[in-house]
Amino acid sequence: MQEQREQWGTRAGFLLAAIGSAVGLGNIWRFPYVAYENGGGAFLLPYLVALLTAGIPLLILEYTIGHRYRSSPPTAFLRLSKPAQPIGWWQVIISFVIAVYYALIIAWAVMYTGFSVGTSWGDDPESFLFGDFLNTADAPDGDFSYVGGVAVPLIAVWVVTLAVLAIGVRKGIERAARIFIPLLAVLFVVLVIRALTLPGATDGLNALFSPDWSAITDGSVWVAAYGQIFFTLSVGFGIMVTYASYLRRRADLSGSALVAGFANGSFELLAGIGVFATLGFMAAGTGTPVGEIATSGIGLAFVAFPEIISSMPGGEIFGVVFFASLTIAGLTSLISIVQVVVSSVADRTGLSRVPAVLIVGGFTAVVSIALFPTTQGVNILDVVDHFINQYGIALAGLVAVIVVAWFIRGLRPLAEHANLTSAVRVGPLWRITLGIVTPVVLGWMMWDSLSAEFAENYGDYPTWFLIGAGWAVAVGAIVLGIVLSLLPWKHGRQQAPDEAGTTDVEGVQH
Ligand code: ALA
Repeated sequence: MQEQREQWGTRAGFLLAAIGSAVGLGNIWRFPYVAYENGGGAFLLPYLVALLTAGIPLLILEYTIGHRYRSSPPTAFLRLSKPAQPIGWWQVIISFVIAVYYALIIAWAVMYTGFSVGTSWGDDPESFLFGDFLNTADAPDGDFSYVGGVAVPLIAVWVVTLAVLAIGVRKGIERAARIFIPLLAVLFVVLVIRALTLPGATDGLNALFSPDWSAITDGSVWVAAYGQIFFTLSVGFGIMVTYASYLRRRADLSGSALVAGFANGSFELLAGIGVFATLGFMAAGTGTPVGEIATSGIGLAFVAFPEIISSMPGGEIFGVVFFASLTIAGLTSLISIVQVVVSSVADRTGLSRVPAVLIVGGFTAVVSIALFPTTQGVNILDVVDHFINQYGIALAGLVAVIVVAWFIRGLRPLAEHANLTSAVRVGPLWRITLGIVTPVVLGWMMWDSLSAEFAENYGDYPTWFLIGAGWAVAVGAIVLGIVLSLLPWKHGRQQAPDEAGTTDVEGVQH
């Protein structure tokens, strides 16, 4: 007999876990430089439009699918409509791919929390990062030498993640979020206050917030805003379907989506302010314009920050707080990403939690630990990250809304389901944004992005490497999604949601 589905203890517990998933590396190192490169203050308008027209409507959609069908993506999409099942498996593969490299960046953050004490990078953080620490090959080649100094923290990250998952939804994931998210909020506030009191902070904020209004008319700025919203809200890779499947029957779906969406946005803005105030300090000290410092994501967190830490009073403590925040934010997101893979296989095979974590989570960890702490790790990460974001998360989101809105015509019944228990009713506006606005904008975004891909090799990498590490992964995720949906799984055949085997637990504090 299938085990009874686990449930969150309280609504606050679910919300903290959902916010923990959303607030991650995307908020701290990705948002500030994406915002800066796409019009600074003017980026906030497309960002807000993307949040309201795609982010929150999609969050409500994913919460509703997870809650109604009480399962992780493959089974949830199967129950929604049999031909939609490959979308669920596709999202599982996307989560698998993201998990294997996301853990690596957290491992770096763990090490940098320690490196901050005594500023181990000396006076050249860039060669320390890519040379001494990562031992990165200059260009992609067949040299896959192993880098032990990266493998050790990576193993630790995986042990913690799998342990939390093995303990369970309520005692593991929810408890971790209850400890980590308030801690992260406190660390963040300390960080931002310190950053704002640095000389030059205003120059940094001016650089971030001075709106370059001409950017609004540039299509790629809108593409960047939608891409950022998907990544940061954790929509499009099945996480929110999975997390919502552990909600009890009476759950406020639309209200929770609004709270999670705006809480994540606030963290993001706070991260932007903290990072740019700090960059302003560096710019004032070195005479370099803020724009030249705020270049790439990896560089910003692991090169520019160490430089700043070395030159500011109390820098070591600031460094510990910054990298500890990055570690915590990353861990709560990684936990949610791996849970998609573990719980999807468990739902379709009937495996119980601990064996599923050990087998599926263990396999994910082994791939991550085998592939990434090598001299090719950074090159693979860079290419896989780019391709799986553009042609994984965003494309799967586009296909999911088209299939649900147009082929299955599922938006109306799903809205009715959401409205049964939600505080904020969803109506025609929700259906129009999801059924028309999101597909049009995302469709155009895909087109724009694909044209750029064929016009110029991403990151100047050789074509063979882009095919092997980029296209093969993105296309492979689709093919594998289809293949997995054709396998004769033991559990989760088409059944009505009421048969899905969950009872509501009453009397638990909200
Ligand atoms: N939403 C997570 C992040 O922002 C994945 O990093």
